[in-house]
Amino acid sequence: MAAPAPETMTRPTSATAPAEEQNPLLEGLQIKRSPDPCTLVIFGASGDLTQRKLFPALYSLAYRRLLPERFAIVGVARTEESDEEFSERMKQAVQQHSRDVFRDDVWELLAKGIRYVATDFADEAGEDRLAQALTELDSEHDTHGNRVYYLATPPLVFPTVVEAIGKRRTTTGWTRLIVEKPFGRDLQSARELNEAIEKYFDEREVFRIDHYLGKETVQNTMVLRFANGIFEPIWNRQFVDHVQITVAESIGIEGRGSYYEQAGAIRDIFQNHLLQLLAITAMEPPIDFTADSVRNEKVKVLRALHTPGPKSVVRGQYGRGYVEGEEVVGYREEPDVDPQSMTETYVAAKLYVDNWRWADTPFYVRMGKRLPRRETTIAIQFKKAPHPPFEELATEGLRPNVLIVHVQPDEGVSIAIGVKVPGLGMKIRNVHMDFLYGGSFRTGMPEAYERLILDAMLGDATLFTRIDEVFEQWSLVDAIVASWPRDRPAFPNYPAGTWGPPSADELLHRDGRSWRSH
Ligand code: BG6
Repeated sequence: MAAPAPETMTRPTSATAPAEEQNPLLEGLQIKRSPDPCTLVIFGASGDLTQRKLFPALYSLAYRRLLPERFAIVGVARTEESDEEFSERMKQAVQQHSRDVFRDDVWELLAKGIRYVATDFADEAGEDRLAQALTELDSEHDTHGNRVYYLATPPLVFPTVVEAIGKRRTTTGWTRLIVEKPFGRDLQSARELNEAIEKYFDEREVFRIDHYLGKETVQNTMVLRFANGIFEPIWNRQFVDHVQITVAESIGIEGRGSYYEQAGAIRDIFQNHLLQLLAITAMEPPIDFTADSVRNEKVKVLRALHTPGPKSVVRGQYGRGYVEGEEVVGYREEPDVDPQSMTETYVAAKLYVDNWRWADTPFYVRMGKRLPRRETTIAIQFKKAPHPPFEELATEGLRPNVLIVHVQPDEGVSIAIGVKVPGLGMKIRNVHMDFLYGGSFRTGMPEAYERLILDAMLGDATLFTRIDEVFEQWSLVDAIVASWPRDRPAFPNYPAGTWGPPSADELLHRDGRSWRSH
């Protein structure tokens, strides 16, 4: 493999880390500058996210030498634990969940700066202990008072933690605040949370996570559109018949019953991941790739979204069924779920972006749990060719072109085109031209959290949601759910392991269309 271009080389470091023979690794995340020395403080350090995503991501960054040379981590949570116990648990989490092989030397790089503070977030003594740990780390690791605070607690505690951090923020270094989703549960609570944050932090210091934006394939959707001249001229209402966005999961709610009962599919995925995928698909080209330019264009799309009427939104809830060969319980039988629950685990909608590019072009979106398989795709369905000069029989079954971004799994992009079946007659059928990451790049795909943690340390908010986007997303969701109490669908209305309720199919059949076949 050719060496990376000098301007994208990672900085040399004295730290022990995988040697140059592993250079293909550097094909992945590369940075022009390294983050300043800093301390990362994770609130909610005993939670699932920290173990499954954050520490494995930090380890992968250390593995590629992308962390600052002078770096420390403080875990903060309620559980009583010593520094050593916490560090040992995180080591096991990395061994279990990291995408990279475990190396003691890399782990030691991280472990030497790990501390743990037990506190219930609302207690002065705990705040004192945290402040003391941070001051000690500043002098041990020379981190200059630079702090990244990561709110990975249950959302109810966000305001308390924000206040605790805000009133003691340092004046010597910079401060950044990463806020996990969900950012509120409706427009009103999002505004209140934002007010609590604004009291102490400037918008430029706030990094609201939507981890889909950190996915390689989501970033590549912008690259596909704006680095290639051939797509943009046809990426509009004149050539596109409609767009389909699918976020399908085969998993259920994975023991998160009490959270999911409050959130439902619309707050868990539709409000954030799904609307962000739509915004990226529909946005105008930004003038550059800076945080404000990109987010200015996305927010225009979110603002232009027409509130769908009740007939354009379908809700579902899964009952018992079979997923990937295994029998699974219905949503109402899951732990911590009301046996009469009316919480939706599936949403499909027909949305319109009211602007010149997209007027009258439907965006059909759907997302749900316990669907037959995991699949996130963005499909741009083009109009059919104006006049096929072939006999009807030759083109029987031929479908119009479709460009599909395979966000996950089997990451890539494919285009369906019509080709002549070899032979003496004239028969035309669809085939796919595929770009598969695995076939073109030797490097594995970075986890979204690697990119996002690194970007927050670098102060780059391009892949984080700005507050005006969050507000727009909530106002659409609030308008949709406002009509829900008026009707009570007969839940459960789809068996686990199927593609959602029949009304979701009718949503498209009414328009003479259907969901992409599975
Ligand atoms: C989270 C949701 O934001 O995204 C989960 O809370 C969902 O319910 C998850 O399972 C999906 O993320 P990914 O990266 O596995 O597609």
